[in-house]
Amino acid sequence: MQVEMELPVIDLAPYLEISAKISGEKELDPHIKRLCSEVSGGLKEAGALLVKDPRCCDKSGGDDDRFIDMMESYFERPVEFKRLQERPHLRYQVGVTPQGVETPRILVDEEMQEKLRAMPKKHQPSIPAGPDPKWRYMWRVGPRPSNTRFQELNSEPVIPEEYPEWKDTMDSWGNKMISAIEVVAEMAAIGFGLPKDAFTSLLKQGPHLLAPTGSDLHRYGQKGTVFAGYHYDINFLTIHGRSRFPGLNIWLRNGQKIEVKVPAGCLLIQTGKQIEWLTAGECMAGMHEVVVSNRTSDAIKAALQENRSLWRVSSTLFANIASDAVLKPLGHFAESPLASNYPPTCAGEFVEQELADINLKGNKGEH
Ligand SMILES: [Fe+2]
Repeated sequence: MQVEMELPVIDLAPYLEISAKISGEKELDPHIKRLCSEVSGGLKEAGALLVKDPRCCDKSGGDDDRFIDMMESYFERPVEFKRLQERPHLRYQVGVTPQGVETPRILVDEEMQEKLRAMPKKHQPSIPAGPDPKWRYMWRVGPRPSNTRFQELNSEPVIPEEYPEWKDTMDSWGNKMISAIEVVAEMAAIGFGLPKDAFTSLLKQGPHLLAPTGSDLHRYGQKGTVFAGYHYDINFLTIHGRSRFPGLNIWLRNGQKIEVKVPAGCLLIQTGKQIEWLTAGECMAGMHEVVVSNRTSDAIKAALQENRSLWRVSSTLFANIASDAVLKPLGHFAESPLASNYPPTCAGEFVEQELADINLKGNKGEH
């Protein structure tokens, strides 16, 4: 049973209109200030936020649809075709990750398993039977640093043959998602009482990843199938467009589990471990899972009737702090009693450590 609760939708337009004029000294318009507090408050309490960015979502569909159409067509290709884009020696950090490779943290983290058993039954996550049955494609977006200690996290892109539109489609959607994240990051910083560029300055040249997943609902459409087992993301913030098939459950800070409904034209933002670090736990990394629900089943029926693809594509982008930057509680968060839980750590080392923690037999862990 899931509790019906809607996440608030925050329109980024009013902030976008005045953002260029905001300087450190000038007092902010109370309306804008309130919007910024709604952003930081939402990230703190729900670990998630719905936003409307007029630059990302025009009513005609546009980039979002073009991107999902292309990914559906790609994931529908035969396994032999897709495996040509596999780069296991780069730990799948670019190109395709086949199904059965990503292992949800819940399967390997005993401390987490213990916490779950203590949760009220109705808020407990689904326990997956094994690795996630979903495919993923990793595409780096945005400028790379010319000089970095973390080449592997910043490797060259992989482009499948027969997709001349690949680079444009990926970059165009990816860059729009990054722009939306940057605005949310600025508003969150203001809401948390930090300088407006506190987060965005660290995001510059970060190894941002457009990482759409593809789940074959034709094969794995049974109710209760776990596509992504209970986990948190190890990046700063994650952003998704609206998926054509629902199924994402998130946990609020108070432990309540809710099924997320993303209205048309909205983007979903989720908190990752890096924002938790930078805010000394004021904002916790949001726990989530993707499971075939009743609403997923309804969407499958509708897609079958309309002869549409049964691949569930998530248009996920992971925004990451620059690999060579240091993660540590920022500004007044350094004075927090919890700050000692978040010692200064190089972001690239942090990501490598998290990946190693959840690795099974050289597999890449879930982000
Ligand atoms: Fe995730």
